[in-house]
Amino acid sequence: MTYLQNKTALVTGSSSGIGFEIVKYLSKFDMQIIITARREDKLLKLKEEVESNSNSKVIVLVKDLAKSESPQEIYDFCQNNNYKIDFLVNNAGYGFTEDFDSYDLDKLDDFLNVLLNSLVKLTRLFIKDMKERKSGKILQVSSIAGIIPSGSGAIGIYGNIKNFVNEFTITLNSTYKKYNVHVCALCPGFTETGFNERAGFNMQYSDVPSLFLMSAKQVAEQGVNACLKGKEIYVVRGGFNKTMIFISKFIPNKILRFLFGSLVNFGK
Ligand SMILES: NC(=O)c1ccc[n+]([C@@H]2O[C@H](COP(=O)([O-])OP(=O)(O)OC[C@H]3O[C@@H](n4cnc5c(N)ncnc54)[C@H](OP(=O)(O)O)[C@@H]3O)[C@@H](O)[C@H]2O)c1
Repeated sequence: MTYLQNKTALVTGSSSGIGFEIVKYLSKFDMQIIITARREDKLLKLKEEVESNSNSKVIVLVKDLAKSESPQEIYDFCQNNNYKIDFLVNNAGYGFTEDFDSYDLDKLDDFLNVLLNSLVKLTRLFIKDMKERKSGKILQVSSIAGIIPSGSGAIGIYGNIKNFVNEFTITLNSTYKKYNVHVCALCPGFTETGFNERAGFNMQYSDVPSLFLMSAKQVAEQGVNACLKGKEIYVVRGGFNKTMIFISKFIPNKILRFLFGSLVNFGK
């Protein structure tokens, strides 16, 4: 029996893409799953799909993680309803393609709250209870952009934050391993989700050679399994992700940043 059987999970950004598929995968383990994002209609559809195809129970919680108070509200909701989170998935996130120096400050605030602050705050809130119970797992959805030096401007700050998520994961494990709490950073490459549209890329997924592209389902399953197996930084197998990381070690960072910067400009 897996660690997940009959346990409780919280998945952020579960209305589409990787988070959506993570919820569907978790539903095989007869779990109680709290799903959260802003789009209620998508969350309700997912609840209906999961509950009619599995023994899992889904609880919908609509929250905007751009609001700085949302992580505490999510935690309070779980406390008030006696949901003890055994598996936390910090997945919500997006990128942007505008030049960094012209990105509106309010929009930047939202971006930092969603991609960085909410992940840190939710981890801080739930890891305390996991430590006390001496049991818990956290899956942080990062990116290979956190490993390969990634361009300038918009994609640069996105990669810098994902790099932080990877380092943060290592630090958390060094502190909480002795309390039987494990954290895994999942690093997908190019994955077919709502990401490109939200970021403002014109490039269609159909333009990308299929060899480079993973499905959200593949990423979700590999990610959950990697976390259960105790992996710390897990690069998704397939999509040439590992090859790109290997090759990038032999290319000077200056050139890599130029190449990735050009790729983003090309996709805009
Ligand atoms: N797709 C890729 O190629 C790729 C590669 C590497 C890493 N990733 C990472 O994978 C994670 C999931 O992205 P995805 O590719 O699955 O994209 P996606 O399909 O666009 O899903 C993003 C999720 O984040 C949620 N979200 C966005 N803004 C939010 C906000 N203000 N408050 C609450 N939730 C919010 C969205 O829900 P609502 O819009 O309903 O709020 C949605 O459920 C992200 O952390 C991303 O950085 C993606």
